[in-house]
Amino acid sequence: MPPSPFPKTLHPPFPPLSSSSQLHSQSRLSQVSSHIAPMAPTSFNAETVPQAPEDALFGLMAAFRRDTDPKKVDLGIGAYRDDNAKPWVLPVVKQAEDVLRKDPNLNHEYLPIAGLPEFTSASQKLVLGADSPAIKEKRITSLQTISGTGAVHLGALFLSKFYKTKSERTAYFSDPTWPNHFQIFSNVGISTQTYPYFSKQTKGLDFEGMIGSIKSAAEGSIIVLHACAHNPTGVDPTQEQWKEIANVIKEKKHFPFFDTAYQGFASGDLANDAWAIRYFIEQGFETCIAQSYAKNFGLYGERAGCFHFVTSPSSDAESTVSRVASQLAILQRSEISNPPAYGARIASTVLNDKELFAEWEANLRTMSGRIIDMRKALRSKLEEAGTPGKWNHITEQIGMFSFTGLTEQQVLKLREDSHVYMTKNGRISMAGLNTHNIDYFAKAVDKAVRATQ
Ligand SMILES: Cc1ncc(COP(=O)(O)O)c(C=O)c1O
Repeated sequence: MPPSPFPKTLHPPFPPLSSSSQLHSQSRLSQVSSHIAPMAPTSFNAETVPQAPEDALFGLMAAFRRDTDPKKVDLGIGAYRDDNAKPWVLPVVKQAEDVLRKDPNLNHEYLPIAGLPEFTSASQKLVLGADSPAIKEKRITSLQTISGTGAVHLGALFLSKFYKTKSERTAYFSDPTWPNHFQIFSNVGISTQTYPYFSKQTKGLDFEGMIGSIKSAAEGSIIVLHACAHNPTGVDPTQEQWKEIANVIKEKKHFPFFDTAYQGFASGDLANDAWAIRYFIEQGFETCIAQSYAKNFGLYGERAGCFHFVTSPSSDAESTVSRVASQLAILQRSEISNPPAYGARIASTVLNDKELFAEWEANLRTMSGRIIDMRKALRSKLEEAGTPGKWNHITEQIGMFSFTGLTEQQVLKLREDSHVYMTKNGRISMAGLNTHNIDYFAKAVDKAVRATQ
């Protein structure tokens, strides 16, 4: 007899069926199902709903979990890990959680549609700078969103409904970009294109290609830009290059859309990582900004983010912002009603407290500093070993990711021979490297590169 699912001391909630009544109910069931089957053919057969491919990154994570080799290395994950390859709860986040726990006025009521007001206003200051003219002149409106993804989506949805262009409205992304950009924009009916970004030769920025493509895009195109720590390449324009990008966007009357998912996480300096956005605002652009707190607060699962719309300086700027805000509120209401509170409360507690803010900046330097150390260590180990190829790009790139230049063949070899997991395009998450596995990884790369020469 199979073991009972109920503990011995407890009675099942219903008496066991005798075998004859079991038989009877089974035949009743098949009678009933044969009766209803022809009346309810699915509306979603394979032709209308084909099987979609698995998300490549989440598939990679599952393959890593299945691998039982103790030496396995996870370089796919886009989340910070400490020197023991463990998730890191920022000490400042623990302090903020303490503050929240002790607050006698805290409750679980709905937030307003636009989110926690002290969170959205602190988010504006964080991204634009506390003394930004756009804030002083009330040229900005902000809504709390489901992390950065929700912010990109809300912006794309708003543009799909309200942004009119003479020719077909198109969003341009860097080639390559965070793959979700394509899905988010095309899901709201905006067509997508790419501009060249990564040079395979230099493993740096293809600046000429980028500028040329933005120049030839139809007037009024949406140009999506990574504010810093470009994902997946780790390659950012210099300040001089940003100025030229801004000139071309202005000349062509394009609409810049910033995605900022790594402020402070990239260089350890919040103002430095927001430089490009602040420069565009200074130049008077109307723009959208999608801001994520997943990486810089380690609040991945709490989905804290913010969407900002900034209009250009003009006499009717305040009225524009008020109209846009009213429409954004309707879009938000129809999709999530109001955003989740916990992550935003943590971030807001830190952003609005001088001491906690300073502690957060120190935590950011810990994360970015460890990543920069790993970049230096990896480069010097590969150069010392004389691994074929050039490795200067490892330290020249910035942020969570590095586009190593490893080929798909080498990536597969690394996985098969050394249990190292990374995406097929050769991107590694620097956060997956640590003082315990860096030697092993550098040797594995050396072996894979030599074997495929
Ligand atoms: C460029 C970019 N944008 C947006 C996001 C959104 O992340 P989240 O929704 O977790 O905040 C990410 C995360 O990897 C990213 O790399």
